[in-house]
Amino acid sequence: MKRIGILTSGGDCQALNAAMRGVVKGLSHNVDDLEIYGFYDGYKGLIYGNYRLLTSADFSGILTKGGTILGTSRQPFKLMRVPDENGLDKVEAMKHTYHKLNLDCLVILGGNGTQKTANLLREEGLHVIHLPKTIDNDIWGTDITFGFQSALNIATDTIDYIHTTAASHNRVFIVEIMGHKVGWLPLHAGIAGGADIILIPEIPYNINKVIDAIDKRTKQGKGFTILAVAEGAISKQDAKLSKKELKAKMKKSKYPSVSYEVAALVEEKSGREVRVTVPGHMQRGGSPCAFDRVLCTQLGAAAAQAILEKDYGYMIGMVNGRTERIPLNEVAGKLKTVDPNCQLIQEAKQIGICFGDE
Ligand code: F6P
Repeated sequence: MKRIGILTSGGDCQALNAAMRGVVKGLSHNVDDLEIYGFYDGYKGLIYGNYRLLTSADFSGILTKGGTILGTSRQPFKLMRVPDENGLDKVEAMKHTYHKLNLDCLVILGGNGTQKTANLLREEGLHVIHLPKTIDNDIWGTDITFGFQSALNIATDTIDYIHTTAASHNRVFIVEIMGHKVGWLPLHAGIAGGADIILIPEIPYNINKVIDAIDKRTKQGKGFTILAVAEGAISKQDAKLSKKELKAKMKKSKYPSVSYEVAALVEEKSGREVRVTVPGHMQRGGSPCAFDRVLCTQLGAAAAQAILEKDYGYMIGMVNGRTERIPLNEVAGKLKTVDPNCQLIQEAKQIGICFGDE
């Protein structure tokens, strides 16, 4: 007999259902008596006891389905120790639900913030297994997160579409790609989509270098330029500001996002016509790609195996092409950012892609 709780937390992505299916299939194939409690809307369901007893049939036929059948919500880690508006101790409430249901393990699918809370629950004595989800690919300790490849395909398709129209009009086009703190998605989509300039948070840009790169293309007879700009791209000046100062500046800004600010500066300084495209949450939508389906099947099966062995307190990650159990306390709170000097950036620069820094 096994009693498992499962929840999806934080921003959704395409392969959450595929990953849950992997876990449940991996267990039901090996355990005769399996109870699965699905918590609704992430940690909220665990805090407020909003759950449903599910069967393995609920997880059948969902491999290709985007979103999450359990729903999700953002419950910031920094507020977990802060009582809710009715004075409820959230951590104690989560422990209460877990013990009331007599769970053997709680399977938690989510990104960095979710992982920190999973680790907190582990410290509080709960058996947890975390699966690394995020289109941002910024979870420390795993080579890849699920959702990344699916989002990458969409972001790349967007740049592909922009390419044809940009060429017809001789314009500068900016495609804003998700990624507030890290630039994995814009970096990969930019390269895959043939962008000429890529701006990511890890490499603060100088707008004059961006203009130089556009001018260089013009001199080479190329009428259009495409920029892949991360949501969190930052200028060299702004990178010097404190978090608080930057927040205040952004609040006062007349631009809806950094891409519009870059667009305005390029128009002003180069006289070129600029258009901005923001695919936004489309990047998290639709079916998981084949790569993510395989990845989630592997991660799910490996999570099931850890549960069968009663080996808890891990993130199940992918390291050098193999699934691995990585202790949560070694990874929680760490962010996997792009190294500005990594081989991929050097090679992108080698073929002439500008990052706004040189
Ligand atoms: O973490 C995933 C992500 O899609 C980021 O790339 C993006 O910055 C953020 O979530 C958007 O969050 P929300 O869905 O809350 O608008």
